[in-house]
Amino acid sequence: MNQEYGREDGPEVPEDEAEATRRDAGDAESSRASRGWWDRNADEYQTEHGAFLGDDRFVWGPEGLDEEDAELLGPAGSLRGLDVLEIGAGAAQCARWLAARGARPVALDLSHRQLQHALRIGGGLPLVEADAGALPFRDGSFDLACSAYGAVPFVADPVRVFREVRRVLRPGGRWVFSVTHPIRWAFPDEPGPEGLSVAASYFDRTPYVEQDEKGRAVYVEHHRTLGDRVRDVVAGGFRLVDLVEPEWPDWNSQEWGGWSPLRGNLIPGTAIFVCERLDD
Ligand SMILES: C[S@@+](CC[C@H](N)C(=O)[O-])C[C@H]1O[C@@H](n2cnc3c(N)ncnc32)[C@H](O)[C@@H]1O
Repeated sequence: MNQEYGREDGPEVPEDEAEATRRDAGDAESSRASRGWWDRNADEYQTEHGAFLGDDRFVWGPEGLDEEDAELLGPAGSLRGLDVLEIGAGAAQCARWLAARGARPVALDLSHRQLQHALRIGGGLPLVEADAGALPFRDGSFDLACSAYGAVPFVADPVRVFREVRRVLRPGGRWVFSVTHPIRWAFPDEPGPEGLSVAASYFDRTPYVEQDEKGRAVYVEHHRTLGDRVRDVVAGGFRLVDLVEPEWPDWNSQEWGGWSPLRGNLIPGTAIFVCERLDD
């Protein structure tokens, strides 16, 4: 079972060499696996999903919820002049949307190849290659931080990321991020009817790992329950303002890995956490 938001046809490490398993994977191993996997698969990801993501759209997940309509970062017009950090930005589509609304976004990603796609699309945005667990910015550098499926599902220690986000935010700053909805971990990651029957324990937090023949992780995803995520947000120094579970809209007939109209109409696929930095 996996919930691979990015993955479609497998990593360049050939399928028969990458064994899928559930086992522990720490921060360093997860980070190393993510960097390698996204560097190897960025081209395929952007080819496969670039049209849906749009060069300058802000989409929160496979349901296609647009920040233009959702306004989770704040009301229309309020973004002008704000410093915004996009974490796990990929090709920086969301950052481009923010820039078009007058914000000053910085797009950060662990993967060099993803950021090369950001350069290819263009827009002159500041791009930073770094790990979300160690943000290379001074305290209080940003008014807002956001992430559409970037970094959080892939890190072993999300509280470390949240504390870093809190540190670089100014007082009262908003942190909005989307992840695979935790309930999805109980179901096979299949878009069809076979993805509708519970196959694993929702409470099993053991990471999903693909490893090579030497046992080295080449892809890692970390599962947290909904309650875990709320506790992590609070432990990171934030107040949870809203938890959005986008419903599958009629207009979206496109499958994305295990996300499909069939499943999307029955169970949530994405959870979006809207948080505000608690003051000291
Ligand atoms: C599913 S993609 C999402 C990219 C973009 N937000 C989008 O919607 O297309 C996940 C991104 O998170 C990045 N990522 C994974 N782990 C990370 C980490 N520890 N720090 C920073 N970025 C990370 C990956 O390189 C990848 O670009």
